[in-house]
Amino acid sequence: MVEIAPGAVPSPNIWNSPSVYEIENRAVDPDGTIEAAMRSIAPWAGRTVLDLGCGTGFHLPRFAAEAARVVGVEPHAGLAAAARRRVRDLPDVTVRVGAAQALPLPDASVDVVHVRWAYFFGPGCEPGLAELDRVVRRGGTVFIVDNDATRSTFGGWFRRGLPSYDPAAVERFWTRRGFQREPLMIRWEFENRADLSAVLRIEFPERLAAEFEREHRGLTVDYAVNLWWRHN
Ligand SMILES: C[S@@+](CC[C@H](N)C(=O)[O-])C[C@H]1O[C@@H](n2cnc3c(N)ncnc32)[C@H](O)[C@@H]1O
Repeated sequence: MVEIAPGAVPSPNIWNSPSVYEIENRAVDPDGTIEAAMRSIAPWAGRTVLDLGCGTGFHLPRFAAEAARVVGVEPHAGLAAAARRRVRDLPDVTVRVGAAQALPLPDASVDVVHVRWAYFFGPGCEPGLAELDRVVRRGGTVFIVDNDATRSTFGGWFRRGLPSYDPAAVERFWTRRGFQREPLMIRWEFENRADLSAVLRIEFPERLAAEFEREHRGLTVDYAVNLWWRHN
């Protein structure tokens, strides 16, 4: 049995298919729109970055290129081990097993937090937000990357996969907690249809994945995201 820290939100896409999730990560946002938006709000050069719910650590080397120190926290011990292997030659990066609700980090030890499609999905994530209040230094910044289900091809697919999802409730949740929304349009850009097909099948049930594959031509999928952010 793989060790998983208490409170982890089941994430079958990356837990069951990390190699396909790697293909997905390579397809996401080839122009670096999300990173550019983050950098314009809170640059991380010379600072300490926490990548929370870091999975196999895809984004850790990118932050390490500029940050003084990078910490990845991931509740799935097998994925955390993969993240450690990815950054073994980067001395300023560490990876810890843990969950958002009980961060294995000291008080006031982080400047910039990046949470991409992990745990912070609106109502219910208050314990993790309290932990971020504890570990983020005064003047630090928290970034949450999440889907914008109100627009784009991917947003439409997301709503069809999760009809009960209420984007207005999610927006109310974040704005009441002092977060600002940066709406961004990114894209998935695949090298071939087989990759698109495989990624659709880790994100959606087979019936929907097959429908989307039939309906959608080409290798590009327009994808709206919300970058929620708050200075502490
Ligand atoms: C869809 S994956 C995204 C991984 C990574 N952020 C990326 O973009 O490659 C979601 C990740 O959130 C992690 N996760 C689930 N529950 C969590 C929690 N309570 N605290 C922190 N991370 C969590 C999962 O283990 C998984 O690695």
